[in-house]
Amino acid sequence: MADALIEIKGLTARYGQVEALHATDLHVRRGELVAVLGPNGAGKSTLLRRVMGLVQGAGSVHFEGTPLPVNDPRGCTKRGIVMVPEGRGIFGPMTVLDNLDLGAYLIGHDRAELKRRLEQVFELFPRLKERQTQQAGSLSGGEQQMLAIGRGLMAAPKLLLLDEPSLGLAPRLADEILTTLGHLNRSGLSVLLVEQKAPMALKLASRAYLMAVGQVVAEVTPDQIGSANDLARYYLAST
Ligand SMILES: Nc1ncnc2c1ncn2[C@@H]1O[C@H](COP(=O)(O)OP(=O)(O)O)[C@@H](O)[C@H]1O
Ligand SMILES: [Mg+2]
Repeated sequence: MADALIEIKGLTARYGQVEALHATDLHVRRGELVAVLGPNGAGKSTLLRRVMGLVQGAGSVHFEGTPLPVNDPRGCTKRGIVMVPEGRGIFGPMTVLDNLDLGAYLIGHDRAELKRRLEQVFELFPRLKERQTQQAGSLSGGEQQMLAIGRGLMAAPKLLLLDEPSLGLAPRLADEILTTLGHLNRSGLSVLLVEQKAPMALKLASRAYLMAVGQVVAEVTPDQIGSANDLARYYLAST
């Protein structure tokens, strides 16, 4: 596919003997925000972890036309893919600023570039600026999610993989975070967004993949999904 930023073909993932991701094809074009929707246990996190090389399996992932390094999460990040994991993975005892600095560690930009990126993150999330010397562990859930995204942005991603950024947040905060992701996408960042909150994700996405029991069961555009009923129908049709 000529305009694909990332192209995934026949990707599988296994935990020991258990195949948690069955042969999966998926792509994201440059500048797209694509959603991956599905219930708990569908394999959404496994898909992201497999792309990053954190889980092993068969299949291929091409990024900007060339294969991604195998089993090499750092190599993936150096190529421009950054994952913001479920549960956020920030370092609680460290300050907000130190957490953000860590995000850029693998990329090793010069000082001026780091400062510029930091200012961008603070512009996007003013609350992080106000709390930059605070311990990350003392932030609210929503602020911790902002920090996790901000830390990802410090690595200058071309593609951001987000695993349920709204999980556990009050609806208003979840909205705020997803709206910010929409802004980021419109400013040119490509995004693969895993969400359980389908309606919000479909407002932002140009396409969505529906997953169930370890595989993609349908690919839809937001206009095909007017209601929760429509979504249920796709699931029922596929099982
Ligand atoms: N570390 C692991 N070891 C063994 N099985 C796992 C592990 N992580 C996830 N699984 C299993 O893989 C399947 C998919 O899980 P996951 O990718 O976390 O789903 P989702 O993110 O859609 O909720 C589930 O059946 C889950 O129990
Ligand atoms: Mg998950």
